[in-house]
Parts: sequence; C-alpha cells; structure tokens
Amino acid sequence: MSPPNSAERPAVGRGETVAADAPVRLSEAGGAGLGSRSSVATASPAVHTVALHKRFGNTIAVKSLSMTVERGEVFGFLGPNGAGKTTVVKLLLGLSRPSGGEALVLGAPLGDLETRRQIGYLPELFRFQPLLTAREVIRLHCRLLGRPKTAWTQDANEALHTVGLLERADDRVGTFSKGMQQRLGLGVALLGTPALVVLDEPTSALDPVGRHDVREIIRNLRERGSTVFLNTHLLEEAQHVCDRVAVIDKGTAIATGSLGELLGHHSRVRLKVEGLGPNWWSGLGRFGRWHREDEWTIVEDIDPKRVADLVGELVRLGGRVEAVVPEQQSLEARFLELLSER
Ligand SMILES: Nc1ncnc2c1ncn2[C@@H]1O[C@H](COP(=O)(O)OP(=O)(O)O)[C@@H](O)[C@H]1O
Ligand SMILES: [Mg+2]
Repeated sequence: MSPPNSAERPAVGRGETVAADAPVRLSEAGGAGLGSRSSVATASPAVHTVALHKRFGNTIAVKSLSMTVERGEVFGFLGPNGAGKTTVVKLLLGLSRPSGGEALVLGAPLGDLETRRQIGYLPELFRFQPLLTAREVIRLHCRLLGRPKTAWTQDANEALHTVGLLERADDRVGTFSKGMQQRLGLGVALLGTPALVVLDEPTSALDPVGRHDVREIIRNLRERGSTVFLNTHLLEEAQHVCDRVAVIDKGTAIATGSLGELLGHHSRVRLKVEGLGPNWWSGLGRFGRWHREDEWTIVEDIDPKRVADLVGELVRLGGRVEAVVPEQQSLEARFLELLSER
C-alpha cells in the first residue's frame, strides 16, 4: 500500500460544465475542428490529482483526493455507493468543475478540449435515442467524432462485434435490454481507439455472461496499451481486471495499491487438529489471533512463513494435524476492515 502521491503541483483546469447523459467520445462535447495542438505529454501519468475537492452545498463529495494513475494500467476506483466515484470522473473529464485542488489528465489541465479526443467515456446513467438502430448510434458517434465517412461502416462493424451486438446491429435501441444498451454504450466509448477509457460502473446492468465479456474487453484494452479508469463498487470486478485500485470512501482515497498489496500480509490459516487437551491453543498466541469455527481453528494475521513452525509445535504437543488450509483474507473482508478503520 502506498501513500497518496503528492508530487509537483499541476495547473488547475477549469472546463465549462457540460451535461452528459449519453456515452460520448469526449471530443464530441468539445466540438470538432479544434487545432491539432499537441499539448499532451505522453510521459505524464494518465491521471494525476492533488488535493482535488468538490463540494455540493453542504455535501463534500470529493475531499482532498491525491492520486496517480499510470499509463497503460487498469485502475480500479473502488468504493461503496455515494463514495464520490462518479463525481471524481466528472471532474477528470471536465464535465464539472472542482471546488479546489488540481489535476492533470493525459498531461493536460482539466477541461482541455484537445485531450477529450483521446478519452472514451461510458457514463453510469445514459440513454440513447430509442428510434435509432445500434448501427445508427455508432455511425452518429463516428460523425461526431470526426471519423472519415469511409471508415464508418468498418468502425461500426468492429465496435458492434467487440461488444457482441453485431447480430442486433439493425434493431432499434428501444427494443434493447438494459444490458444490451450498456454494451452499445461501451462500443461507443471505444470508438477511435482512445488512450484513456473511463468506465463508470460498466457491468452494473449486466448478467454474468455480460460481466465476463466486459472483463475481456477491458483486458484487451490493456493489451493494446490503453489506460482504463474503472469505477466500481464490485470487489469482484476489481479483483478480476485491475492492476491497481484506490479504495475510496467519503470522497477520499483510504488505500491505494495492487490488490496483492492491499491484501498483503493479512493471511490466515484454518486448522483441524485432533488429540489435544482443552485450551491447548492458549500458549500459541505468538503465532497470531485464534478463534474456533465448529471443528476448525482459525489463526488470523499469521506470517505465512510461520505456518510450518505452528504445525511442528502442535505435533510436539501431541496433536494430530488433519488439515492445514492457508487462506488469504478475502478482499471483501479487507475492504470492510479498511472502511471500519476510519
Ligand atoms: N449534482 C449533485 N448535487 C448534489 N450532491 C451530489 C451531486 N452529485 C453527487 N452528489 C453527492 O455526492 C456524493 C458522491 O456521489 P457520487 O459521486 O455519485 O458517488 P458514487 O459514484 O461513488 O456512488 C453523494 O453524497 C451524492 O449525493
Ligand atoms: Mg457512481
């Protein structure tokens, strides 16, 4: 687990507030025809925030958030509902202005229009025009994105294929299930090979097959070198696809690191031992905290390297060790522990 990064302070971006209720390549919100200003330094992190702050009246939605997302990683922004995930994304995309603090996205200040061309965004809540077909939605976004017209057909086929909607390409969005609309939104977000893909709860409307497919898409994005910023309240999702996560609660990051680091040294072991007298474990406190679950004895917070010593000790005391099951603390347990530590 590493402390929040607090390196040099970037300039603050103050983009205009833009309503977003459909998945867009953000260049659309900025409008086409911008100059080809190359303000983006590829060596910079994908996202870097310093003491980012957002207040809505008396509600502090984002509180002094400092974090860095490196290029090419799948970064999980993990926290319970209301933690501030969507608000942070809107700040990063220039859809809402911070009350304080600073941030750079792809090396540019918040709200930089040229940078928006390189960002694909799947909002948490969106609706497409129900009378359009899936193909028409994609072609519309190709146009908004400024893709050459000759590329639209291939772009649409590729996008619809990637999200598993090719067979329904010519059906109207109004006839789609929520999960299918979510897939279409994802297809739109991937148009034009964006450097940064921001997905806000991308699988919340999906069934297990859909969730699996989205994870595959995310892994493919990583393989082609895109950075993925994934908002999720689903631990399982983070566990499956993220290289690193920030656990966010009440608007601030309470832990940052790889899942391995977050779970780190919190392993435990489950033992089944026969043939020992009552209270036999009372002298073994040095190995960790103990409790019983039916016929099992659980040792919490034990250093994995000491399990062999513990078993040796039990045998020396005359015990018959029938099972030793090392367990890593579940992410869920660790997550709850992190939240309760505050
Ligand atoms: N436009 C808004 N006006 C007032 N409060 C808001 C607004 N957007 C978000 N909030 C509040 O900010 C907090 C964080 O919300 P949000 O970012 O949506 O959380 P998450 O995406 O993690 O579920 C919540 O308390 C929410 O009610
Ligand atoms: Mg949200």
